[in-house]
Amino acid sequence: MHRQQFVSLLGLAVALIALVTSGATWSQIQHTTDTENTPSDEVLPEIAPAGGPAFELGTHMATLSRRVSTLWFAAKAGNQAAADYEITEMGEVMSQIIAAAPVVDGTDVDIPGVLDALRNTHFDELRTALRSGDHTAFEARYKAMLDSCNSCHREAGRPFIQLKIPARPLISNRDWSAGMK
Ligand code: HEC
Repeated sequence: MHRQQFVSLLGLAVALIALVTSGATWSQIQHTTDTENTPSDEVLPEIAPAGGPAFELGTHMATLSRRVSTLWFAAKAGNQAAADYEITEMGEVMSQIIAAAPVVDGTDVDIPGVLDALRNTHFDELRTALRSGDHTAFEARYKAMLDSCNSCHREAGRPFIQLKIPARPLISNRDWSAGMK
């Protein structure tokens, strides 16, 4: 047999095997969906370990940061309801951090105290600027809030975590004008 013929026969065999294998997988999928199309506690893996997941400050901060970014684009679109919602949600993330009262080893940064002060200092001003419809005023308030975020990061030995006005949204599938009157 010529080498070329052998190679094409081998290719055919591989293709046949792939077909048979995928056929088996397909019937398995069908079987699963036919008989077990309702998820139940028995088949779904446990997500949170018993006793709840351990608190991770970085994870909460990343959520906070995402909301801070979303706030910028909602405000830029003039969507007061969406922007207001993000501020409320930012406050909730902060409440979760405050309740967990994490401590940064080797520093005397009072995380719950500083976060509470940040909310009290900036949230009302951000909302007032939003309602005025003056985006320049909002930008000034937004930057002032970021300064507070960044100064805590410096004090907490994380000078490399510095937030700025986002250039583009983290997500592209959000309709920023939704719900606007
Ligand atoms: C009271 C102090 C404090 C304030 C205020 C604060 N942070 Fe943080 N932030 C931290 C600390 C400490 C870490 C590092 C967490 C770690 O090492 O796990 C952090 C980490 C982060 C990170 C990195 C998260 C990651 O993926 O690991 C982001 C992003 C962040 N903060 C955003 C913000 C934003 C946005 C604000 C303001 C709205 C803010 N932070 C306000 C203390 C603060």
